[in-house]
Amino acid sequence: MKRIGVLTSGGDAPGMNACIRAVVRAADSCGLETMGINRGYHGLINGDVTRLDRRACANIIHQGGTVLGTARSPEFRTREGRARAIEVIKQWGIEGLVLIGGDGTFRGGSVLASEYPVKIVGVPGTIDNDVYGSDFSIGFDTAVNSALQAIDKIRDTALSLERLFFVEVMGHHTGFIALECGIAGGAEELLIPEVPTSIEELCERLRQGFDSGKRSAIVVVAEAEQPGISFRIADEVRDRLGLDSRVVILGHIQRGGSPTARDRVLASKLGMTAVETLVSGRDACMVGEIRGEIACSPLQDTWEKKKQLHPDLKKLGELFSGRKAFPAMTEGR
Ligand code: F6P
Repeated sequence: MKRIGVLTSGGDAPGMNACIRAVVRAADSCGLETMGINRGYHGLINGDVTRLDRRACANIIHQGGTVLGTARSPEFRTREGRARAIEVIKQWGIEGLVLIGGDGTFRGGSVLASEYPVKIVGVPGTIDNDVYGSDFSIGFDTAVNSALQAIDKIRDTALSLERLFFVEVMGHHTGFIALECGIAGGAEELLIPEVPTSIEELCERLRQGFDSGKRSAIVVVAEAEQPGISFRIADEVRDRLGLDSRVVILGHIQRGGSPTARDRVLASKLGMTAVETLVSGRDACMVGEIRGEIACSPLQDTWEKKKQLHPDLKKLGELFSGRKAFPAMTEGR
């Protein structure tokens, strides 16, 4: 193998640049050339390819976003689109591809590999942390910390004005971000798709809290594929309890910003391992981290299998929002 390509695809995530840098440096140390493919699969289809060397990756480790740019490419989902991408791969002599993205990116990569024998290794890069095969994906830690900072600030005003706040966080169809920033931010309530909660239950617990003397509360809401859903929830709570509230949608600030040390280290580790994996001859897989160790999973698993919330964190989230008592507390009652 002489030349590899690297692209970032789907939603950008803080730490992607650190990963690109590690890929280029690892490839360079193995005598491989790296081509940077701009704007994800869109750039691959359109031949938007440039040579990346160590100099091109200088001073990017601390930057959020991705220097390669990214895109969501409907064209790549078509056979014609992929045929054009394959022509570009051949034209540039790219033998291996490092794909940095989420499950949609890897699904696209699996289809591409079934149509042309290019070697593919994925690296999980999404703030959502919903990729099967890795405990953490690049960008998640930064997103959780950005959301947490916002929640802490909102708590100051919630306490002062004695208000109920609904803080909506990203996460696509999962509650990974909501769960971690909700626990860390001491949220009174957590609404995540993995733990269905009715409006009645939510109102009952809020009512109990306010009856017992609470004067403010923060409910962390996972967008769960319905961005803006918090407005409807807030309306229903007002109608049932007469509680005035404010809604804050954190939105894309969770995707931007300088990556945390944890994200930079994870990204660098996985970028280096992706190149090592290609060099070793292994492909059609994703490199991730499981219980602190590097793990390689079949690429197909990453989009076919559903990643679950960590049971301990789920239990903690349930405990803190008053859904569950410890068995010891209920014994003998
Ligand atoms: O997948 C990352 C993510 O930020 C999700 O959390 C969110 O639902 C989605 O992307 C938003 O996408 P867009 O930036 O295209 O609106």
